[in-house]
Amino acid sequence: MRIDVVTLFPHWFDWFRTQRHVTNALQLGHELELVDLRETTPLKAGQVDDTPYGGGAGMVIRVDVVEAALEGRYGAAPPPHRTIALSPGGRQFDDALAAELAAEPALTLLSGRYEGFDERVNEHLATDVVSIGPYVLSGGELAAMVVTDAVIRKLPGALGHEESAVEESFSEALEGAPEYPHYTRPFEWRGHPVPEVLLSGDHARIREWRLEQSRGRRPGTP
Ligand code: 6GU
Repeated sequence: MRIDVVTLFPHWFDWFRTQRHVTNALQLGHELELVDLRETTPLKAGQVDDTPYGGGAGMVIRVDVVEAALEGRYGAAPPPHRTIALSPGGRQFDDALAAELAAEPALTLLSGRYEGFDERVNEHLATDVVSIGPYVLSGGELAAMVVTDAVIRKLPGALGHEESAVEESFSEALEGAPEYPHYTRPFEWRGHPVPEVLLSGDHARIREWRLEQSRGRRPGTP
C-alpha cells in the first residue's frame, strides 16, 4: 500500500517514519510519502491560504492550492484511490474504517491547518472526510498519523511475528468490544494478585474468561 500525506508540515512525520511498525511496513514494500503543499502552490511567496469569505477569524486553505498539489503528484486526472480530507467535522474514524482503508492499494490523506480547507476540497477533491474524534486539534497532521498508524498495523506482517492485530480491541474477534486485561509478573503486587484463571493452564477457560472480560468493557456496560 502507498499512503501519501499532503501537508504544510512534512517534517512532523520525520519521527513517525522511524517508528518500528512503520519501518517494518516500509521494509515490506509499503510506502509513506509526504507531499508539501507549498512546493506546488500556484500563489506567490508560498502562499497556501486566504481569508474566509463572509469574514471571521483565521485562514482557510485554498482549493486551487490543494488541486495543484494533487496534480503535481498524480497528474490532471483525480487520484485513482480514496482521498481523505482530515477534518474535525468528518465521519468518525474507527477500527472498521481502519480495516476498510487497509484493504485499499493506496490512500491520500489531506491534512488541513488553520480553519481547515475550503469546503470545495471536501466536496470535490476528497472522496471521504474523516475526523479522529469529537475535539479540535490545531491541524490534521496528528490525525493523519493516527489514521496511518491504525491502518499500517492492519497490514499483514507490519507488526512482526510476535504480535497480532486480529484479537485486539474493537476487532471482530472480540465482537467489536475493547480488549481483555493483560497481566504479567509479579504474581502479587501490593496485595493485588493476578486473576487465578490465568494460571490454570486451562486454555478453554482462559479464552472464555477473556471474552467475558472484553464484553464487560463495552462502553455502557455497568
Ligand atoms: Cl481530522 N483535524 C482536526 N484539526 N481536529 C480534529 C480532527 C481532525 N479529528 C478530531 N479533531
